[in-house]
Amino acid sequence: MNKSIRWGIMGPGRIAHKFAKGLVVVDGAELTAVGSRSIDRAHAFADEYHIPQRCGSYEDLAEQGDVDAIYVATPHPAHAENALLCLNAGKAVLCEKPLTVNAAEARRVVDAARQNSVFCMEAMWSRFAPPFAKLRELIATGTLGEVRMVHAHFCFRTGWYPDSRTLNPDLAGGGLLDVGVYPISFASMLLGRPTHMSGSAHIGETGVDEQAGMVLGYDGGGVAVLSCGVRTNAPKTITVCGTDAMVQIENAWWGDRGLTLIAADGESQYMPLPRVGNGYNYEAEEVARCLADGKLESDIMPLDESIAVMETMDELRRQWGLTYPCERNPQ
Ligand SMILES: NC(=O)c1ccc[n+]([C@@H]2O[C@H](COP(=O)([O-])OP(=O)(O)OC[C@H]3O[C@@H](n4cnc5c(N)ncnc54)[C@H](OP(=O)(O)O)[C@@H]3O)[C@@H](O)[C@H]2O)c1
Repeated sequence: MNKSIRWGIMGPGRIAHKFAKGLVVVDGAELTAVGSRSIDRAHAFADEYHIPQRCGSYEDLAEQGDVDAIYVATPHPAHAENALLCLNAGKAVLCEKPLTVNAAEARRVVDAARQNSVFCMEAMWSRFAPPFAKLRELIATGTLGEVRMVHAHFCFRTGWYPDSRTLNPDLAGGGLLDVGVYPISFASMLLGRPTHMSGSAHIGETGVDEQAGMVLGYDGGGVAVLSCGVRTNAPKTITVCGTDAMVQIENAWWGDRGLTLIAADGESQYMPLPRVGNGYNYEAEEVARCLADGKLESDIMPLDESIAVMETMDELRRQWGLTYPCERNPQ
């Protein structure tokens, strides 16, 4: 049974709409408040989802007394500041991916969560969806044997909008932080922290990575082959190869199809894993479960792991010579 959670949404943009729709199927979830930098945008969003509290600043939202948890849905460079605002006001935080722009920022957020004894989690939503949960179960029960290789890819095609969040360096655009974080976090979930890595990225006209390939190596011999990109579509497929069997997940990051288990002799079994809601409900349910159990972080998406993923992305960007204006001229 979930604890009843009164949610606030910070930054009513594209993904905030999906989260608000996802909450509809979460037991005990109440969407109580929305905060925008503009009161008009707060009203417009609140009217659509029948939200009683409308805040014309993020500070106002963080101070709302009848909010238990805040979903931070702003662009990446705002995550650290916005999450810190909420955590320092004693509000539990579910922060969109990537947790921050770099590991130094992530450590500041995690330190604040721990110092304030407040729950915090990166909104790595696909990790909570049924195919990923089933995969963890298959690995835990030994069906795959020892996981040795992970292939994971997330590329999509955006149009040429240089000012958009996806391509604009001022918003820490580019494939790595937008979608590369998914395969990197996925490999981390199965293989842990990489001991070595290399990647090749094309830095496009706007100064951000448009497509990249990465190879990560792990203690014990695990290897992950990953890719990400924002200017070309590619199959969004995951293959997890164990010594006894392998698993394939098509359209993996939406978590809405199921998975295929392929035995060593090639026999394959498709396991349908139907999705409830639009998928964003699963991460909200995890927050509710953790708060009900009095936990300050999730075992499925722990904070130290979010920091380690940021460290991996920092190292890849170091190899590519890629920094963002917000890092070169910090406020
Ligand atoms: N989980 C997923 O499937 C998924 C999918 C897409 C995106 N995301 C993540 O969600 C975050 C937001 O992405 P989005 O596509 O929803 O972004 P978006 O629509 O461009 O922006 C979200 C909202 O952030 C606020 N904001 C705060 N500072 C801003 C700034 N400097 N520039 C523009 N807007 C700013 C704006 O709301 P107000 O000004 O009204 O406050 C805006 O509506 C990103 O970190 C992204 O990685 C996750």
